[in-house]
Amino acid sequence: MNFSRIAFFSAALLTLLSLLAAQSKPFPNPIVLPKPKPNQLGYRYNLKTVLESAVQKPDRDTLSPVLTLSELQLGPNLYRDLTFALAKSTAPDKGLQVFIDRYYYEYRGFLKTMSDLEQKYPFRDANLWTHTEVQSDITNGTRHIYASKLSLFAALLDYKKNGDKLIYPVGTAFVSETFRSDSLKSSETKSEMKFVQAEVMIKRSDGEWDFFMYSEQRQLTLQPLKSARTGTSPRTCLTCHYNPDVRHEPFASFPNERAGKNIASVAVPDDLRGGERVFKFFAESQARADHIFGSYASLLVAGVKRDAAAGKLSLHDKFIYEKLKPLYPDLFAR
Ligand code: HEC
Repeated sequence: MNFSRIAFFSAALLTLLSLLAAQSKPFPNPIVLPKPKPNQLGYRYNLKTVLESAVQKPDRDTLSPVLTLSELQLGPNLYRDLTFALAKSTAPDKGLQVFIDRYYYEYRGFLKTMSDLEQKYPFRDANLWTHTEVQSDITNGTRHIYASKLSLFAALLDYKKNGDKLIYPVGTAFVSETFRSDSLKSSETKSEMKFVQAEVMIKRSDGEWDFFMYSEQRQLTLQPLKSARTGTSPRTCLTCHYNPDVRHEPFASFPNERAGKNIASVAVPDDLRGGERVFKFFAESQARADHIFGSYASLLVAGVKRDAAAGKLSLHDKFIYEKLKPLYPDLFAR
């Protein structure tokens, strides 16, 4: 091997080594996002939702006032898409939003069909789930809203511990099915109501809620329902559910009927609505605790109280009644 060949090979080796060195630098071209401020709810939620679950190896910088994300952490696809989304937008939270819209469902791994959902959360089982029918101007239809008695019961047990707030346990699901009258038929009897969308909320292990929807074909969908205010998931959902100042009929006035021409109403028998002491005590619709609008826990308490008085408690409800009664003696007094 002559001298010029040796020189050539050493130069090539040096170039290769320097390339490798550059690649193994911990963070080449990091993506830097400002840490969300407490009032930037949507941004905070979105960072948690996709990025924190996508980043396999968070580094110490993740905890600094900015969030530094490397290609190494995100993987080539997420890194490319996030860089692209941020470059095309005017503000980091807008760019992040575009990115989240694309990845939210995939990363959260929601069940693909409603029958899968129903297997995991048997919400039609009236022994274990409450059912509330609402005429809603949010979805512009009749909503059948299901809540697990076990979750409501758990929130009621911890009410005092949680500073007089109803906070639902991790894994709690609220399932809402929206029906609209079949426009081809003239009357609006229940049998002619058509399922158009399901809206679901599930409490995550980090204390936030996931929001997702199923289409008319009962498939997981990102497509917002037409002539409804529910919008895109999770972005639009957050604007109402995560805004503590939003009050909305019919629950804003519940258990009182709202006067006026608003279509919104809760279909609850009068004897249940009459449990005024219960509704005043928990003031669910006023407190809007834990991002939930409806008065489902109060309805459960009012229901078991009514059924106990009539001697008609089911086995499950008897259990709930007997555990709650000593905790809330005033509420259960006649
Ligand atoms: C414009 C405000 C608004 C938006 C946007 C919104 N919701 Fe709601 N949501 C409500 C209100 C108000 C209720 C109470 C029932 C009613 O009046 O329809 C409710 C009820 C629910 C419930 C039953 C539990 C509860 O809080 O009472 C679920 C589940 C739900 N919404 C899911 C969603 C999902 C998923 C989205 C996004 C696709 C969404 N919501 C968007 C206002 C909103």
